[in-house]
Amino acid sequence: MTEARQACLITFGCQMNEYDSGRLGELLSARGWTLTSDRAAADFIFFNTCSIREKAARRVLNHLEQVRPLKKGKPGLIIAVGGCLAEQEGRTLLERAPWLDLVAGPQHLPEIPEILDRMMAGERAGLSLTGAGHRPAWSRENLSALGGPELPRPPAAAGAARRLTASVTIMQGCDNYCAYCVVPYLRGPEMSRPADDILDEAKALLEAGVADLTLLGQNVNSYGRGLAGAPSFPELLVRVAGLGAPRLRFTTSHPKDFTPELIGLFGSLPALCESLHLPVQSGSDRILKAMGRIYDRESYLRLVADLRRARPDLALSTDVIVGFPGESEADFEATLSLVELVGYDSMFSFKYSDRPRTKAADMPGKLPEEEKGRRLSLLQARQKAVTLAKNAAHAGQTLEVLVERISGRRQGQLTGRARNYKLVHFDGPPELIGRTVPVLITEGWAASLRGRLAEA
Ligand code: SAH
Ligand code: SF4
Ligand code: F3S
Repeated sequence: MTEARQACLITFGCQMNEYDSGRLGELLSARGWTLTSDRAAADFIFFNTCSIREKAARRVLNHLEQVRPLKKGKPGLIIAVGGCLAEQEGRTLLERAPWLDLVAGPQHLPEIPEILDRMMAGERAGLSLTGAGHRPAWSRENLSALGGPELPRPPAAAGAARRLTASVTIMQGCDNYCAYCVVPYLRGPEMSRPADDILDEAKALLEAGVADLTLLGQNVNSYGRGLAGAPSFPELLVRVAGLGAPRLRFTTSHPKDFTPELIGLFGSLPALCESLHLPVQSGSDRILKAMGRIYDRESYLRLVADLRRARPDLALSTDVIVGFPGESEADFEATLSLVELVGYDSMFSFKYSDRPRTKAADMPGKLPEEEKGRRLSLLQARQKAVTLAKNAAHAGQTLEVLVERISGRRQGQLTGRARNYKLVHFDGPPELIGRTVPVLITEGWAASLRGRLAEA
């Protein structure tokens, strides 16, 4: 018997990429590959890349340089770049890094196992599978090949007896064309997976013991658009919850697509967790308009109020971009004030970065890096205080915690997540891993909560 071929998959970017890499790993496993995290031991190294900001893109080129010498000792080594940067750069990547064998956009990941077989049998390397500068489209075939559940799932995280959290992609692509964003060009048009496929995959995951399930997509609340006979997104949530999902989440949702029905579910669907990522991007109407976000400050705040009416303990997180072209000091102040008004539990914030083909890249009024940096620091300092206060406010509450693993911080400590998605550390025996237990919160820190086991 020949030694098992080893694949090393390295993932950058969002949860969609994490999911896609997970699926590629499963497709490879089904073909006899084993997965390794050791680049030097691998016969196939795959970088699943992100291009959302320039920094993300640059990082990948450094990684490619680092693996280059490995080819000297192992001429048969196959190196590939997949994902969004692959789609963006295509053949250019092969020219910039001639030791690269394969470039494959997100739509082509399911084809990789077969290509590897051919390459290992001696087929010419240097292949580019992308939309070649055009907007790439999903074939129904590849969309379904990238979904579950027919393959065995990878093993649970170290220390856990089974996999506890998982995601299911419900749609690919995006049609929103926010002015700053490169995703619609790279991930292609929005395409929803058939509800039955999603339900089958969710069911398989729940049967395997998954207790916290996230429905994934760039814009999940427009699920079903263009798919004949598809349920609405709220209907889909109800159906997944009906399979017995203990905890259910979704990400990312666009504020413009929140229906009263969806808001209502936060009050009426017990499985739907009290956490929501609701990217606002800016607090200034002028900038929101230029970004093409459709909603304005007032309607966003109204939405937050409606959501909190439905679920008062809803934990909110958001994304903010500072230094969008033309952002004045007053616009930025509007963002600061919105952030204070909403009181987010956590925030991801970014300096605006020019991306190829986007509308914003051609807009006047670009800000200097230092100014963007100044605004980012100010915003982050404000948010840090709010996050700390929000976390501290949990002291005295008993939260239901899904115990995920042994904590890396201290002997005898466990780590899990509350329904509001906050990390909780507490002392307890490892036997609790995989169980949901009540924890009395004693302290709130910047990025986690601390507590002790409460009486059940
Ligand atoms: N589909 C999600 C966003 C995915 S990208 C949504 O609509 O909310 C994740 C975040 O990256 C965005 O919310 C935005 O805040 C940030 N981002 C996207 N393009 C960017 C750019 N060109 N410069 C800086 N940040 C950007
Ligand atoms: Fe990008 Fe906007 Fe689509 Fe999100 S909704 S992926 S920010 S274009
Ligand atoms: Fe990045 Fe592509 Fe996700 S650009 S954020 S990996 S959709």
